[in-house]
Amino acid sequence: MECVVQGIIESQNNSHYMRHNNGVRLQHVEALQILLQGLCGVPKERVRVHELCLKSGPNLGVVPSEVRLLCDLAQPTPSWTVRHVGGAMRGAGAEQISVLVRTIVESKVGHNVLRFFYSLGYKLDHELLKEGFVFRFQRGAQITVTVTSANKMPKLYATDEAVPVTPGIQLVEITAPAAAENYSEVVAAVSSFCEYLAPLLHLSKPGVSMGIVPTAAAAAASLMSNSGAKTL
Ligand SMILES: *[C@@H]1O[C@H](CO)[C@@H](O)[C@H](O)[C@H]1NC(C)=O
Repeated sequence: MECVVQGIIESQNNSHYMRHNNGVRLQHVEALQILLQGLCGVPKERVRVHELCLKSGPNLGVVPSEVRLLCDLAQPTPSWTVRHVGGAMRGAGAEQISVLVRTIVESKVGHNVLRFFYSLGYKLDHELLKEGFVFRFQRGAQITVTVTSANKMPKLYATDEAVPVTPGIQLVEITAPAAAENYSEVVAAVSSFCEYLAPLLHLSKPGVSMGIVPTAAAAAASLMSNSGAKTL
């Protein structure tokens, strides 16, 4: 299982414009990076994930199924992983917590995996290239914070021609592995970590987007002016 929360943050790609606008339009993503760096004390890693989302046809089982094929092109030797996201945990307790707990199945696969899924009756639903950075660290749980922009391709596998799906917006995802025995501990660790990021972004269960935080610009400005002068 994994615990997950998501949020969005504005990105200003034009750094020239940023510098020449009296610091009003600071890069929120850059501020988030400074904050994360200070909080977790590990360097960020670059990610460039090629993602193929496949859906099963009507003839394959009764329940439609969705799998994602993922390949991080930023790795020295990129390899494919197949990932199936299962159901979210239900029940009164699950409604009350702000973190989603869900089952996932992940497995390493070979390069011919797409043909394999096609032969099983799956069809390509969409393809994305998610580019950005990730911080992986231990803080009450094994937390992974991923900040990426989603890009789409004009044709299959044309990752070099990718264009942003939502320009100016990046997705922030926080995940941590959990099990039936320890998920409440992991949820607590993820929730308390999210509080540190609250001035910059709203984090909530996937699919419950709460938009952009009104305080983000001020928080980013303060982080940028303090960075370098002190560590968090
Ligand atoms: C919870 O269990 C999972 C699966 O065994 C493990 O990967 C994770 O590190 C555990 N987390 C904590 C905080 O104990």
